[in-house]
Amino acid sequence: MMQNSGCVQRSITVLGATGSIGTSTLDIVARHPERFRVEALTANGNARKLAELAIRFNASYVALSDPAHFSILQEALNGTGIECAAGVEAVTEAARRNSDMVMSAITGSAGLAPTMAAIERGSKILLANKEALVCAGELMKKAVLENRAVLLPVDSEHSAIFQVFDDKGRSGIHSLVLTASGGPFRGWTAQQMKAVTLKEALNHPRWSMGAKITVDSASMMNKGLELIEASYLFDMPEDRIDVVVHPQSIVHSMVNYIDGSVLAQLGEPDMRTPIAYAMGWPERLRTPVEPVSLARLGQLTFEEPDEKNFPCLALARQALRAGGSASVVLNAANEVAVDAFLNERIHFLDIASFVEDALASIQPGACSSIDEVISLDREVRNSVKACIKA
Ligand SMILES: NC(=O)c1ccc[n+]([C@@H]2O[C@H](COP(=O)([O-])OP(=O)(O)OC[C@H]3O[C@@H](n4cnc5c(N)ncnc54)[C@H](OP(=O)(O)O)[C@@H]3O)[C@@H](O)[C@H]2O)c1
Repeated sequence: MMQNSGCVQRSITVLGATGSIGTSTLDIVARHPERFRVEALTANGNARKLAELAIRFNASYVALSDPAHFSILQEALNGTGIECAAGVEAVTEAARRNSDMVMSAITGSAGLAPTMAAIERGSKILLANKEALVCAGELMKKAVLENRAVLLPVDSEHSAIFQVFDDKGRSGIHSLVLTASGGPFRGWTAQQMKAVTLKEALNHPRWSMGAKITVDSASMMNKGLELIEASYLFDMPEDRIDVVVHPQSIVHSMVNYIDGSVLAQLGEPDMRTPIAYAMGWPERLRTPVEPVSLARLGQLTFEEPDEKNFPCLALARQALRAGGSASVVLNAANEVAVDAFLNERIHFLDIASFVEDALASIQPGACSSIDEVISLDREVRNSVKACIKA
């Protein structure tokens, strides 16, 4: 549809619309009404916020994963003409509906099936849901090729690499460097982290994000998941992806070239920059984020990650090297352990222990379909839940 301004209006579906990434995505939509129109929005249980967003953005369809809250959604949308549904399949249906692009921003492997549904209809996918790629990287990439879909990274590190990665000159690329803020416990020993509280773990120094990814950042599992994500997105082996801790979160990641050049992308730590980049690609969209002022910042610092006190990063490397479906085990064990930590049933340091135990005790072969991934994910979840209860 052509608007007066001359730019083409695209439709977008936002999976995980009520979350941190979903809200930032809709902020960009609101700033560019001539470019974007909302087709569908989804959430898990936050019916009130979903209804509010659906009305504000005039969505055609909304879906709530958890049916327990459906009556609230129905009541709030009564008389608006907005179609609504509930249940896991209703969320996947949102991804199947015709839209130009789908923001995949559900937390965890719950985002896998809807993201695959969007890929299968050849949509442009803006991928924030790293857990989906961690669990099913090869299968997702194959489906993207077969269905002529487009997969664009939203994670700030992967967006940074994408922006400076010379895809046509791959032979000139030496390695990738992911930056990590180090989270709230940077510099702490395991002894110091023994008694950390949930509140401390949720107090990220640089980024405002959902609870699960904030805990992952505190344990450095987030960087581990991102390492696996980068390996799939950029087709790079584990030993050519480095991690460097950069507490200011200004340099979002780098590509090292064989001639000694290092290309980096810089920006304020505001997810609206990488989200807008993916939404507008290959064009750039205006956001309210100001360019970085290096003189005001004065200095940027970098240090080696501490894999001894933060073992999750090494566990993710181990899973990536092991191949098969070890990454499914890593991710499912981590999701269950983080959930238990968020519900104050285990200690912070137990998260890494449960993941390590799961990787040692479950040695799966390769999953050859998404159904096999989902079934392995379920098996690992049940096993880790049983260990936590014991
Ligand atoms: N936040 C960031 O800055 C950031 C940066 C890079 C990548 N990411 C990635 O983006 C994804 C979302 O992160 P976030 O920080 O936006 O998380 P969040 O604030 O917790 O939001 C998660 C969204 O997913 C929905 N959801 C949760 N569980 C679901 C389920 N089982 N089925 C269907 N929907 C479900 C939530 O609905 P309710 O509100 O109803 O619970 C919410 O809309 C994660 O994979 C994360 O790793 C986030």
